[in-house]
Amino acid sequence: MTDAVRDMIARAMAGATDIRAAEAYAPSNIALSKYWGKRDAARNLPLNSSVSISLANWGSHTRVEGSGTGHDEVHHNGTLLDPGDAFARRALAFADLFRGGRHLPLRITTQNSIPTAAGLASSASGFAALTRALAGAFGLDLDDTDLSRIARIGSGSAARSIWHGFVRWNRGEAEDGHDSHGVPLDLRWPGFRIAIVAVDKGPKPFSSRDGMNHTVETSPLFPPWPAQAEADCRVIEDAIAARDMAALGPRVEANALAMHATMMAARPPLCYLTGGSWQVLERLWQARADGLAAFATMDAGPNVKLIFEESSAADVLYLFPDASLIAPFEGR
Ligand code: DP6
Repeated sequence: MTDAVRDMIARAMAGATDIRAAEAYAPSNIALSKYWGKRDAARNLPLNSSVSISLANWGSHTRVEGSGTGHDEVHHNGTLLDPGDAFARRALAFADLFRGGRHLPLRITTQNSIPTAAGLASSASGFAALTRALAGAFGLDLDDTDLSRIARIGSGSAARSIWHGFVRWNRGEAEDGHDSHGVPLDLRWPGFRIAIVAVDKGPKPFSSRDGMNHTVETSPLFPPWPAQAEADCRVIEDAIAARDMAALGPRVEANALAMHATMMAARPPLCYLTGGSWQVLERLWQARADGLAAFATMDAGPNVKLIFEESSAADVLYLFPDASLIAPFEGR
């Protein structure tokens, strides 16, 4: 199935017999141009490239070590998960890529630094941190590009969480996926800001994985999406390079709304946005008509993320006092 990744791990693994304790951190990320639709579900190969911004110290801290109990254990935010828990099963199935059929019980401990109040669950940072920690635990000598290819198998968006800052995930062309990985963009924008406007903090009823597969299979609006998203990536990268919010913001917002349009046209329809999300958007659009340069993007959930420059931060927080503010380049 995942032959390119399996071969890479097997090569790096040659001679590695014991497990040491290893810890890693990976930031969460928000796509400015979205990954939506796969051409290969087993390898998580996307139909289009995507561009993201990582969320600095909002992410996942993960520790991997041999389990003293003789069986696997997955701890999440201080709780030992039931073996049947969906996250535990996904994390252990992913660890099997490294164990390659050997009996090596693991203890995986993950702590999210993302405030629960932000309502931002993150498989992206979770699988990126798990990839780094597993590579460390098995003593594998892999570079970040290799780690991005592996993290992609856990969750597509995790391929971008290997780096801080702006990251492009190239869709790639190869059947085995070796050319489908993240690439850090050498573009800093110190004044770039993100605000998370939490609408609903609960878990989403329909995973992004199921949502995108259902959309690809049934939505008559999906076919034009991959080419449009590819074009959006190029415009968005150019706007980032020019630090041009007036060019970036409208394209980011249009890209997100186009993604949501594809799923609303699915049969049966799928809509992650709730009344609360639309209220946030309407307030934003009203404020924009009055001159505020802030723009929205939404993922597979109701919460709204805003992008803007530092000079607009006070106005954004006045409009949405409960929003969480993130400065992705601070201290970097
Ligand atoms: C809407 O990476 O969660 O957030 O590859 O199936 O694990 P899988 O999907 P996932 O999808 C993320 C979808 C998105 C857009 C994005 O982050 O690019």
